Amino acid sequence: MIARNVPDVTFRTRVRDESIEGPNPFRWEDKTSADYFSGKRVILFSLPGAFTPTCSTYQLPDFEKLYGEFQAEGIDEIYCISVNDAFVMNAWGKAQGIDKIKLIPDGSGEFTRKMGMLVRKDNLGFGLRSWRYAAVINNGAIEKMFVEEGFSDNCETDPYGASSPQNILEALRADKDSAAA
Ligand code: BEZ
Repeated sequence: MIARNVPDVTFRTRVRDESIEGPNPFRWEDKTSADYFSGKRVILFSLPGAFTPTCSTYQLPDFEKLYGEFQAEGIDEIYCISVNDAFVMNAWGKAQGIDKIKLIPDGSGEFTRKMGMLVRKDNLGFGLRSWRYAAVINNGAIEKMFVEEGFSDNCETDPYGASSPQNILEALRADKDSAAA
């Protein structure tokens, strides 16, 4: 079942704070769904895990590269969410040199579960994770979902196509062309 609005959730993020001395100048900062989604038109993409090959080689870096093209289509922010904690998401963003895409830690999987996208990945020793999907979200309302085929627990494959940035850009441009026609 796909939600029509994003669920109200509180995310536990870790942010840099220069007033903290020592080798680890970060503190917890709670961010809500409203903080991320209110008053903006955004792309959210969700994937099975930080540091995994398709996500690290294609999906995250390609969204970063195409960020300007999404802005030109009226997108204010692009968010990447995963059922991983804030330490892992921050380390992944740093390792990938990401500075445009914002990473959201859904460590407990609450947002993903309420989106109807939580799946078992026990076959890989991952536990509960997100099915791969993306969405166009306007002021918290889900305009369009791009869900990879074969939604299932313990899927043996990792389909990737529908939620690619290239596919979403094509859909945004087609919608714009048909609205103008
Ligand atoms: C991948 O991104 O390639 C991947 C994701 C989940 C499990 C294994 C691989």
